[in-house]
Amino acid sequence: MAARIGNDIEEAARRLEAGELVAIPTETVYGLAANALDERACLAIFEAKRRPSFDPLIVHVRSAQAAEELVRDVPAAARELMAAFWPGPLTLVLPKRALVPDVVTSGLDTVALRSPAHPLTARLLERLAFPLAAPSANLFGRVSPTTAEHVVEQLGDALGYVLDGGPCEVGVESTIVGWEAGRAVLYRPGGVPLEALEPFVGALAPAASRSTPAAPGMLAAHYAPRTPLVIGSPLEHLAHGSPARLAVLAFRTQHAAFACRTLSPSGDLREAARNLFAALRELDACGADLIVAEPVPDEGLGRAINDRLRRAAAARGAAEDSQGR
Ligand code: TXA
Ligand code: MG
Repeated sequence: MAARIGNDIEEAARRLEAGELVAIPTETVYGLAANALDERACLAIFEAKRRPSFDPLIVHVRSAQAAEELVRDVPAAARELMAAFWPGPLTLVLPKRALVPDVVTSGLDTVALRSPAHPLTARLLERLAFPLAAPSANLFGRVSPTTAEHVVEQLGDALGYVLDGGPCEVGVESTIVGWEAGRAVLYRPGGVPLEALEPFVGALAPAASRSTPAAPGMLAAHYAPRTPLVIGSPLEHLAHGSPARLAVLAFRTQHAAFACRTLSPSGDLREAARNLFAALRELDACGADLIVAEPVPDEGLGRAINDRLRRAAAARGAAEDSQGR
């Protein structure tokens, strides 16, 4: 049975209390939520997304105080970041307490926490007696959803209710920061630009590479349309004239291609981030042979956009290996 779309917080709350999955709006992307303290409910998230069990979930809390109940200690810098950026698109990875189930953290002794800024989900969290585990509400490895309809397209049969909060304001996932050996580490660029974090934590070290990724935001191949995607210059590709059905994902300009989406005619990186995933989906659905995506300036939200484009491009080989993933 296909999921219903609505904006009834009570219905969402009742279903979550019954251990069901509900898709929720956040300012970044839609999340596939379950009671974070209910192991069975959280297992259902992995099943619905076909997500490997080694990819831990983000736990959404209503406040910094609610976060402190789930973790053992909070570095002073983390407390400052919560005060400055919550509610908002920043996730902090901190040592977990035993009440956070191991399925949520994939066995890690840390938990990823954030307080989302969307008003509907903020009210839902106020209404509930537990936090919500929620990864992005897409099939594993695919493009993240920024509208309720996107959620239904990929996961409509796997859940009963989508809480509709309209199109997401930020459009790329949260920035993820943790601490390793006392140093702040960046696990994923996202909705809070690095430039805004650095006054609090200094220069962020890149996460140490591991065979099991600490943050599968770190998986090289992710965010993938089914149409092959390369990063490059639209003009060069169009000059070559091949393939004939070339789709262009451009930053500022409009191109005469088989299909073209322009992320921000005025060159505003925030607008570009907001439009990114919907544009990727539209180009993916237009029957092109190849998508060429133009990189954006590597500053502010541009870092998160370029990061997602690189992973979508890296997914090309992986997607060809396992069609219909
Ligand atoms: O904006 C967002 O963060 C969205 C919305 C729904 O809140 N959520 C999201 O979730 O992007 P997801 O599952 O697509 O990405 C969560 C990332 C994963 O890459 C995961 O590995 C990382 O958070 N993560 C979770 N727990 C972690 C931990 N203990 N240590 C390091 N990374 C962790
Ligand atoms: Mg995701």
